Amino acid sequence: MVILPTETVYGLGADAGDPSAVARLFEAKGRPRFNPLIAHVADLGAARRVAALDERALALAAAFWPGPVTIVAPFREGVCDLARAGLETVAVRVPAHPVARTVLEAFGGPVVAPSANRSGRPSPTTFDDAMEETGFAAAAAVDGGPCTVGLESTVVASLGGPLRLLRPGGLDRAAIEAVVGPLAEAETDAKRSPGRLARHYAPTAPLRLEAEGPREGEAYLAFGPWPAGPLVWNLSPSADVTEAAANLFAHLRAADRARPAGIAVASIPLHGLGEAVADRLKRAAGFVG
Ligand code: TXA
Ligand code: MG
Repeated sequence: MVILPTETVYGLGADAGDPSAVARLFEAKGRPRFNPLIAHVADLGAARRVAALDERALALAAAFWPGPVTIVAPFREGVCDLARAGLETVAVRVPAHPVARTVLEAFGGPVVAPSANRSGRPSPTTFDDAMEETGFAAAAAVDGGPCTVGLESTVVASLGGPLRLLRPGGLDRAAIEAVVGPLAEAETDAKRSPGRLARHYAPTAPLRLEAEGPREGEAYLAFGPWPAGPLVWNLSPSADVTEAAANLFAHLRAADRARPAGIAVASIPLHGLGEAVADRLKRAAGFVG
């Protein structure tokens, strides 16, 4: 297993075709085995060997790969059953980070790489955070600096019928819809994209959302101009949702490390990456059923 940087978050990578390596990966993360992994590949040709991509999936791939979008499509070959949680579908993406691309090209086959956090914890967006989470399990680790996007990839299902948004993420809905038209919503069955389980991405301290400021003992994640303070982390002083996305997990972790009574978070507008930021915050707060 290797810790490797991607443009979204750090991943914990293993040979997608090796069931015992994949089993160790589930073990290291404490991840439920019904939650399938994303196969990372070097280019579109490799993606098409792994998954049957139809015209709309290919349009999405042409527009945004390498980049922060994952496509769920019918499975073809090269990813073991365990990595797919036994499904006849597979999630595949071509990451944009130069280190990830170099590793994938050198390895030559699909690499499954969930976010390098222990299951249920915020995804790591720096090398140190990744090492703290699952470094104990990695035979090698590459420091690629802080992740520029900071949120996991957007997951879109292409399984016949309309494309469906399974997980909002690092590529915003408007950019995708400009290329492929309106996205349908995911069915509510959490098992289809278990990253969407209610309590996920959670720090230890309880979260209070849409807070206008911190209460006694609380840390505060501000958005927009806010006075600095010992328990204040500003997601974006200039109120930019893309910057807030990049800072979200690192600031949640930093605030949590200060062991506050709770973490209050300012409200974030829903445009652009704000949709994915709001999604992660709701799950971190345990508010989504
Ligand atoms: O940005 C990312 O996607 C990062 C980096 C490391 O690439 N990886 C990541 O992996 O977020 P992970 O395992 O934390 O999230 C994978 C998501 C989960 O929500 C999982 O349920 C969904 O993809 N998924 C995987 N295979 C699927 C399938 N066949 N059908 C539906 N959802 C699937
Ligand atoms: Mg994850």
